[in-house]
Amino acid sequence: MEPRTITLTVNGDRRCVAVRPNLTLVEALRDELHLTGTKQGCGTGDCGACTVYLDGRPVNSCLTLAVEADGRSVTTVEGLAPSGTELHPVQEAFIAHGAVQCGYCTPGMVMSSAALLSREPAADEPSVRHALAGNLCRCTGYTKIVEAVLACVGDGSCGAHGAAAAEGKA
Ligand code: FES
Ligand code: FES
Repeated sequence: MEPRTITLTVNGDRRCVAVRPNLTLVEALRDELHLTGTKQGCGTGDCGACTVYLDGRPVNSCLTLAVEADGRSVTTVEGLAPSGTELHPVQEAFIAHGAVQCGYCTPGMVMSSAALLSREPAADEPSVRHALAGNLCRCTGYTKIVEAVLACVGDGSCGAHGAAAAEGKA
């Protein structure tokens, strides 16, 4: 298949990349743009490890073709933090609450959590569990992840950073 050049904005930077028509977005991010924070787990839309924002909305990048991102904005976990020297509050909370073990699920968990807090800053435990239902973790038993996300509730900074990142401003 002939490569096709696409132009997309990734974490606020305009990028041009030649991709095969069947290349997935997670493959393009990791293999072509060298943004390896996004993980590929199942590759079939079941685990959520590959979650990124496409035009501000969480998507499974293993189920999204890179060509579908042409002309659009992508935010990966590398672009979530407000600066190169600060973490996003959700990332801070994951560390503080011991919500990371092997870490493979963590980028997707963080992206889904930040998206939830951006649209629902006062999320309760059922909302958090519902929002993370598409993100699988083999290590933590989920309790510490949920505790970490709930620790951000009421901390207006989580939603603010999430919204800014989703708009490609963070
Ligand atoms: S790798 Fe995309 S959902 Fe599992
Ligand atoms: S921390 Fe290992 S899969 Fe979640």
